[in-house]
Formats: sequence, structure tokens, C-alpha cells
Amino acid sequence: MTSNAEHAPEAPRQVDLDKPSSARIYDWYLGGTTNYVVDQIFGEKADRQFPLIKPLAMSNRQWLGRVVRAALDAGIRQFLDLGSGVPTVGNVHEIVREHAPGEEARVVYVDYEPVAVAHSEIILDRQGITKWAGVVRADLRDPEDIFASPVTRKLIDFSKPVCVLMVSVLHFVGGGDDVPGIVARYRRKLAPGSWWAASHITTDDAPAEGAAQISALAESYRNTQNPAWLRDRAEFESWFDGMDLVPPGIVHLTDWRPDAVETLFPKLKAESVRPFYWAGVGQVRE
Ligand SMILES: C[S@@+](CC[C@H](N)C(=O)[O-])C[C@H]1O[C@@H](n2cnc3c(N)ncnc32)[C@H](O)[C@@H]1O
Repeated sequence: MTSNAEHAPEAPRQVDLDKPSSARIYDWYLGGTTNYVVDQIFGEKADRQFPLIKPLAMSNRQWLGRVVRAALDAGIRQFLDLGSGVPTVGNVHEIVREHAPGEEARVVYVDYEPVAVAHSEIILDRQGITKWAGVVRADLRDPEDIFASPVTRKLIDFSKPVCVLMVSVLHFVGGGDDVPGIVARYRRKLAPGSWWAASHITTDDAPAEGAAQISALAESYRNTQNPAWLRDRAEFESWFDGMDLVPPGIVHLTDWRPDAVETLFPKLKAESVRPFYWAGVGQVRE
């Protein structure tokens, strides 16, 4: 599947209300309100094109929560959430606070979409937690800018394990972008024991109708600020080079350590969306 010669777009400099943005559309899928008419119109069309899109987004958000809790259980206390999106529900700092109350933890959110960044800043400020959580507006394709940001330097100690999250974001990085090279630049910065977690939309095991619908939806994203690329399992797996896969390895995200009871979107019937995402966590070697 995939790549074509086109580059993913430059990071937006200011709010673009002419074209829908993946951050705000995703907020709409999750039932949030930080989106504009242009995003809502796109979301409604996406919902008609692929009626599982909302449950798929919710299931991805549940996976993010399971990974953060697993990282905390493994002793990791620092999180770098790349392509963090609009803070809708189940945000990393909230999961940290709930799952490891009283623990010293650090969270840095990174996104290049101005509305996502502005709302993240407001939430952290309102919650009075800027001592341990911060936001960087940056393009994840420029890791060195993110490492050099004063927020990252203040909050993240790269000599200790960090959980780097690239959840539902790499399908917006493609064309001329060197995804394995970008991932390797993060991996090289990380201390042994760090985690790199990624989820990615796919059609590998999808029924023909669903695969056709997702492909049509990916085409529609070409008219947004964030064109999307589909990948197969082999390509996704190759990005974990130099890392050991954390059990259960690379699986459909609904199969990655499912919780008996989900508190986020408890009514979601995740089985229906099972074939449409790959997910995995790699641990940086000694
Ligand atoms: C579908 S949302 C995912 C949000 C969150 N990670 C989650 O899974 O719940 C994708 C986010 O990635 C952001 N994004 C896409 N490409 C990016 C890039 N090159 N650098 C930084 N953020 C990016 C978008 O602005 C959007 O907020």
C-alpha cells in the first residue's frame, strides 16, 4: 500500500479555517467541541464514508490510556506525547494523575496544530499543573527542535526512561518524509528502558467493504491540512528496528492488553473496529 511522492504539508503557522484539520476532526469524532464548521462538515462526510470512524477513534484513545497505564506500571514516569491533538478526554496527564496519584511524573505534549496547542495550554494552566506538564508547538518531523525546546528541557530528563507516544499520528507523515529515520532520531535520544508506542490505521485484515471505505476516507484527507497514508503491517513493524517489542508485540490495537472494563467510552463495541489499526510498543535496548 501507500507512499506516493507528495510531501506532508508544512506545519501550519496559524489557525486555518479554510481547510479541516486532523486535530479538530478527531476531536469531533470523539464528541469534543473544539472544532469548527469546516471540521464538522468533513466529520459528517467521513462518518458517511466509513461509519466505524467514530468508534475507531474512541478505540484508539482507549489504547493510548492502556499504554500510559502500562508504562506507569513498568516504572516510567516521563511522557512525550507527539501529535497529542486537542485535549478532549483521556489525556495523558489525567491518566497519570489517576493511575499514579502522588507520584512525581512529567508530561510534554507536542502538536503543530495551533488550536490543539492553545487548548492544551489553557487546560494545563487551569488545572494548575504547569510545574509537571507542558506543551510544545512543533512538528514531530523535527525531533531536535522538540529536544531543544525550553519546555522539554525543563520537564524531560533524557538520561532516564521516557515513554514516547506517536498515537494515530504517523499516518499523517508520509510521501517524501523518512518515517523510519524520524523514529530512529527519537530512539537514539532515549535512555535504555524507554518505550516508543505507535498506532497506525491499516486495511490489512479488513473486510473488503471496510477496506474500500477507509481507502476512500484516506483520499478525502488529501483535501485537509493533513493528507493521510495507509500502511501495512510489514512497514509498520520495520519502524521498531533497534527495539524489543513489549508483549503482546504488534497486534490490532483492540488486542493490546485489553482491559476487562474500560472506563473511557465504556459502551464502545471495540470488536467491530478490530482490523483497522496496528499498534505496538518498543522498548529501547541497553
Ligand atoms: C488523529 S490526532 C491523534 C491525537 C492523539 N495522539 C490520539 O491518538 O488520541 C493526530 C494529531 O497529530 C497532529 N499531527 C499530525 N502531523 C503532525 C506533525 N508532523 N507534527 C506534530 N503534530 C502532528 C495533528 O495536528 C493531530 O492533532
